[in-house]
This record gives sequence, structure tokens and C-alpha cells, in this order.
Amino acid sequence: MVVTVSDESKDIARANRSAGYKLRNGISMPVVGYGTWALPDSPECAKAVCDAIRAGYRLIDGAAFYKNERSVGKGIRAAISQGVARSELFVTSKVWVENLGYQNTMDSFFKSLNDLELDYLDLYLIHWPASPNKHPNWLDLNCATWRAMVELYEEGYVRAIGVSNFLPHHLEKLLSFRVTPMVNQLEVHPGYSQRALVTLCQEHGIVVEGWSPFGRGAVLQDATINAIADAHECTAAQVCLAFCRQLKVIPLPKSSASNRMVSNLDFLDITLSTAEMGQLLALDDIKLGYSREHPDR
Ligand SMILES: NC(=O)c1ccc[n+]([C@@H]2O[C@H](COP(=O)([O-])OP(=O)(O)OC[C@H]3O[C@@H](n4cnc5c(N)ncnc54)[C@H](OP(=O)(O)O)[C@@H]3O)[C@@H](O)[C@H]2O)c1
Repeated sequence: MVVTVSDESKDIARANRSAGYKLRNGISMPVVGYGTWALPDSPECAKAVCDAIRAGYRLIDGAAFYKNERSVGKGIRAAISQGVARSELFVTSKVWVENLGYQNTMDSFFKSLNDLELDYLDLYLIHWPASPNKHPNWLDLNCATWRAMVELYEEGYVRAIGVSNFLPHHLEKLLSFRVTPMVNQLEVHPGYSQRALVTLCQEHGIVVEGWSPFGRGAVLQDATINAIADAHECTAAQVCLAFCRQLKVIPLPKSSASNRMVSNLDFLDITLSTAEMGQLLALDDIKLGYSREHPDR
């Protein structure tokens, strides 16, 4: 049986892209991405990635650290064989914190590219910064890593480069380079909005992606979020994604269940009122669902 991508999912994909974000180099990013953390390196992972693309996701968020890039690549290529153009996809990988430095970054990049079996990546990120508490030479290490990122970008192996979990003191030095970070991927969800950092990035023209938009599922039972969901006749998960969208953050939800993958995409028409956004931002006071993963601790 030949399986093809349905017209409906192509419409979702189009909406996802047309409502997206422009990076400062003119490249467009989709409005939502599919997270691949915790999908085991297996046929199930390849199927989940392919299903996600067939459902309308166009941004695939991966990383060397997830140890599943071979399966992620298989899923991407399966979707391509079913009629999705490679140029429609926005494939991301990241260099792990134990592989920082110029040569390690180069080696990690080409290992990811090789595991994914792709010719280029759309976005490459430094997964976590070297930090003052853990690396005595943290500033030099971040700069050497960034030099490799710039080289990969200028040589055309990757269409955009950025960072993840970078706080202002990690970012500062990189902002003096010829090519500066285009993206910062941060933990963002109701309960941990990192609003000041998100705003600072946006003021510097850095697009923010939000990881764990459901706080790894931990925020989805919250009474405030569910009351807002009831008012909009939608799910708590969709409220979390609309929350990110209204902060101009690209959420990266992960689901291994096809039905949730599909329903999670259906949030673009939800507009939360100022009062509802205020209620969700107030959840920061109790750090609802915060992972406790901090770049300097
Ligand atoms: N840069 C970084 O340092 C960093 C760190 C963490 C994550 N990330 C990225 O962000 C992505 C997302 O974060 P995450 O995977 O930590 O967590 P998440 O997306 O916040 O939550 C995923 C959890 O929510 C469940 N879920 C998804 N949709 C649901 C729904 N509609 N109703 C109920 N439960 C639902 C999933 O279960 P099912 O699978 O069973 O549906 C899974 O257990 C990752 O996959 C990764 O790509 C990046």
C-alpha cells in the first residue's frame, strides 16, 4: 500500500509555516515543533517522527544527547518518501555539553548529520552552555564552540545556528561575534515562563523556542489551566501551546501518541485574553512544573 500525506495535514503544515517566525538571516521557522527527547532509538521512534510530519509538524527538534538520531532520520526519510519535500522541513540537532570546544563541536555536528543521513541541518544549537560553576574556562569554551558553529553556518552545512539554555551572561560574549545566535531554546511553560529572559532575547532579535511546553506533563492537571481550557472548549495541552504562542515562543511539544500529536497541533485559533495570560503567568510564583534544570547549577 502506498501511504501519502493527506490534504488536511498539508493544510495544517501550511498554517504552521505561514504563521511562523523569521530569523534575522531571513529563514522562516514554523510556529510549533515536534520534540523527540525520550523516544527510544527504535522503529517506534521512526514511526512517531513520520506520524508527526504526516500530522503537519514541520520542525523536528532533536539532539545528539537523545541518542535516537538514526531513528529520527529514518522517520524523516519515510515522510519524504511519502511526499513531503525536505525543503519544507526544519530539522534541528544540538551539540551536547560534554562535547563543547571547536573540534568536538565539528565532530559532533558531522556525527549527527551522518546518523540522521541528511545533507544539511536547518538549525544547530549549543545544548547547554559551559558555565562558571562547572568549567573554569567557561567563557573560552563557549567562544570556541561558537566559532565552530559559525564556520558550519558559513560553509552551508546548516541554515541557522543558535543556543539553548543560555542566560544573559552566557550570551553576552557571543553577541560580539560576526554571526550571533539566531535562536535560544529555553524551558517555557505556564509555571516557568522565563519572561524577562525571553523578552531580552527577543529584543536582540533572537527567536525563542520553548522546551517542555507541558512541563513534561506535570502542568496538565493544574486547576487554573484546566479552567481556561474549559472556557475555550479545548485541552489543557492546547492552552499551554497557545500560551507559548502569545509570548512569541515556538513550543516543542513531544507526544508518542498519534491522537495527542494531532490534537496538540490544533491551537493556532485559540486566543487567550489578557486576564487569562495574567493567570497563567502568575503560576510562575509557584514554579509549577519547573524541571529544576539550571545551566549554572
Ligand atoms: N534544550 C533542552 O535542554 C531541552 C530539554 C528538554 C526538552 N527539550 C525538547 O523539548 C521537547 C518537549 O519537552 P519534553 O519532551 O521534556 O516534555 P513535554 O513536551 O512538556 O511533555 C511531554 C509529556 O507530555 C505528554 N503529553 C503530550 N501531549 C499530551 C496531551 N495532549 N495530553 C496529555 N499528555 C500529553 C507526553 O506523553 P505521551 O508521549 O504519552 O503523549 C509526555 O509524557 C523534547 O522532546 C525535546 O525535543 C529540550
